[in-house]
Amino acid sequence: MELAGKRIVVTGGARGIGEELVAAFVHEGAAVVSLDVLADAGRQIAAAANKAGPGTAEFLVCDVASRAEVNAAIDEAVRLLGGLDALVHVAGITHQIDTEDLTEEQWDRVFDVNVKGTLFTNQAAVRHLKASGGRILDFASGAGLIGYPRQSHYAASKGAVVAFVRSVAREWGKYGITVNAICPAMWTPMYEEARARRSPEELAAHDEERKASMCIDGRMGDTQRDLAPFMVFMVGAGSRFISGQTLVVDGGRTFTR
Ligand SMILES: NC(=O)c1ccc[n+]([C@@H]2O[C@H](COP(=O)([O-])OP(=O)(O)OC[C@H]3O[C@@H](n4cnc5c(N)ncnc54)[C@H](O)[C@@H]3O)[C@@H](O)[C@H]2O)c1
Repeated sequence: MELAGKRIVVTGGARGIGEELVAAFVHEGAAVVSLDVLADAGRQIAAAANKAGPGTAEFLVCDVASRAEVNAAIDEAVRLLGGLDALVHVAGITHQIDTEDLTEEQWDRVFDVNVKGTLFTNQAAVRHLKASGGRILDFASGAGLIGYPRQSHYAASKGAVVAFVRSVAREWGKYGITVNAICPAMWTPMYEEARARRSPEELAAHDEERKASMCIDGRMGDTQRDLAPFMVFMVGAGSRFISGQTLVVDGGRTFTR
């Protein structure tokens, strides 16, 4: 039980990577509060993790793009947990569209969730973490490092997350808070949706590219096997000297510095 006694807020805990992390942290003995806009799925996943134990899980509805909802949900989460040791901010959105056709509304929605959501959740968490230090892990993307065609708004938003993380790691180190960006490549509903929008030819080309570029397996990873153990380490005591980093967990597809 690597996380016994740890109190963790996970955003985006109703699906994909966040869902798996709620289960993994509880499996390691942590007390988790999961936040998401998907109320039914979020509640079910927290209830299942809670039942499996040995840690605990609860769920609160929260749109990370709303400062008021984030402040209320994180304050309530900290009350339920009796304090806070880590924020794992996973929630994010994307969709594929040619940049020539991208509307201001589409750009703004992606920035509201991915960039403002990072600011709001991090600000709300730091108020509780600063007394005794802790961990913030913000989900960025390889899109923000190498650029993805037809996702320029998403790539720009995730590039912003990387720059934000580097900045607040410098600001909040004085409180004993580490802040890192995670760039995953996992097979999740978000990835399934992106695959479903591709033509058979585009999909074949995409799979060929992944086969060639991902040193390990040549395909997207499995969150439980390939990301969760790393995240358990990152919220635990062993990562206290790692901060401001862009940590790419993508089977060796993207090399960064
Ligand atoms: N899957 C990958 O390979 C991959 C690659 C790069 C980056 N990422 C990033 O990792 C994170 C998780 O990705 P995923 O594949 O699990 O995605 P997903 O779409 O499967 O899950 C995202 C979760 O975030 C929640 N969410 C979305 N908007 C929200 C909002 N406004 N407020 C609260 N919750 C909200 C969704 O309801 C969902 O439960 C995202 O930030 C994504 O950009 C994923």
